[in-house]
Amino acid sequence: MTESSESQWWASESFWRKCAIFVTAGMALVLVLLTFHSLYAIGAGSDAGRVPAYSVINYRIDYVPDEDRGHLVPEVGPMVPLFGEVMNETEAKALVNHGKLTVQARNCMNCHTLLGNGAYYAPDLTKAWLDPGWGNEQARELLMTMFLKDPVANARTFGTNRRMPNQNLTDDEIRGVIAYLKWMSAIDTNGFPANFTTLPQDGPVYEPEVAEGEEDAS
Ligand code: HEC
Repeated sequence: MTESSESQWWASESFWRKCAIFVTAGMALVLVLLTFHSLYAIGAGSDAGRVPAYSVINYRIDYVPDEDRGHLVPEVGPMVPLFGEVMNETEAKALVNHGKLTVQARNCMNCHTLLGNGAYYAPDLTKAWLDPGWGNEQARELLMTMFLKDPVANARTFGTNRRMPNQNLTDDEIRGVIAYLKWMSAIDTNGFPANFTTLPQDGPVYEPEVAEGEEDAS
């Protein structure tokens, strides 16, 4: 080595080794922090607002154009409880979770995509709850239940000629799957899947039954 290169601190090997160690350690820390932030942001009901709490299944999920963002975004509307049953967060979470585990256990992703993950044989299920193919808001729960109970007899196919084989789901599993699909449709997916047209949400809304004697209380 020549005199001059020894005197240049920035040309020394040990300086660059330290730099490499600092940058690697610093970035590892950033990665850990980002991971925790992502876990928080995708948590159901977090303030980040993209993934709703499970009890969102008590409400109408509309899908409306957002001018600024240039695509459709989910909008939580008035109360239209799933299967006409108002659930608290714990009950809703248990039902949605049952659906999610059913979808995983039966490997629906073998044919379908969910939030873009899975196979491309059958339609993406991210917004299946909002599919205009269910006719109208009131008929939807019944038609979904019938379809999942017997997808062969109730095939829709939409010109693809592809049919869904019967997955032999139990009634509880079907309720769970429908709750899971309703909850998932309320996730803000930045307009994914693109060019989706939505079922008009114009059915009646929920009127809580007022117990006798309570009417005068207010
Ligand atoms: C062997 C492939 C296959 C598997 C496995 C499969 N599906 Fe399907 N599924 C299809 C096809 C094909 C269609 C479209 C045909 C139709 O709607 O009649 C479909 C349609 C659907 C629809 C209607 C989608 C919409 O946008 O209206 C739902 C909901 C659905 N499947 C749920 C499920 C669930 C839940 C599972 C797992 C328990 C599952 N599928 C497993 C092939 C499959």
